[in-house]
Amino acid sequence: MKGVILAGGKGTRLYPLTRMMNKHLLPVGKYPMICYGVDRLRKAGITDILLVISRQSAGMYTDFLGSGAEFGVSLTYKVQEAAGGIAEALELAKDFVSAGERFVVLLGDNLFTEDLTPYVDSYLRQPEGTAKVLLKPVEDARRYGVPVFDSTDSAWIAHIEEKPKQPKTSYCVTGIYMYDKAVFDIIRRISPSRRGELEITDVNNLYAADRKLSYDVLKEWWSDAGTFDSLREAGEKLKDALP
Ligand code: DAU
Repeated sequence: MKGVILAGGKGTRLYPLTRMMNKHLLPVGKYPMICYGVDRLRKAGITDILLVISRQSAGMYTDFLGSGAEFGVSLTYKVQEAAGGIAEALELAKDFVSAGERFVVLLGDNLFTEDLTPYVDSYLRQPEGTAKVLLKPVEDARRYGVPVFDSTDSAWIAHIEEKPKQPKTSYCVTGIYMYDKAVFDIIRRISPSRRGELEITDVNNLYAADRKLSYDVLKEWWSDAGTFDSLREAGEKLKDALP
């Protein structure tokens, strides 16, 4: 099992701080944000990790993380030239993943305390060509991808609505995804959205349409630290989380 952390994007909701530095290097507790995803993967036994970063601050990642050895992992880096969407960033992992291999994808701004091991184990028991996403109940689902469940078999997601005005459930699709190499064929089938990005929700919806998108629900704390309020909350929550 390999891991991919997507840390490109513009971080516009955190301007002006992100004019100076890529979002995933901003401090959360004692460490840059990116370290927490690396730590969660390592905790689940995933030590071969690709970081997809942007041009902005690229050198700072290697300054801080280096080869990953100090953090107990082996890091590979790829640069996403422009913020063309989460699925475009994911496509850069194509050569990192071998045929028959499965991998966990984390959005670099998704921070959480839970051990991913049971979810990874349950994904490994799923048939080839299927995917899994992790959900979390949230107060305001309108900010997120929101799942609609299959009415005949609730083990599968029927559809995901991206940032709906009237969410049909109170769950958010977190930025924790599990795929095998088939995902790269699926990415090739999608087109840029109205905002000009290759959307991860479009990828997941192609799985969902074939009843191939399962889910589990996170039990512990989770946040996407993409706004000033959530960044402050994450800093408080995780202030003693890493050594
Ligand atoms: O946090 C969970 C949410 O993340 C999901 O519920 C949504 O379905 C999903 O679309 C995503 O929504 P956001 O609006 O929060 O995505 P955002 O554009 O903020 O990007 C999230 C992460 O993805 C960020 O940490 C960096 C990475 N990213 C994003 C873009 C647009 C890239 O690596 N490259 C990109 O081009």
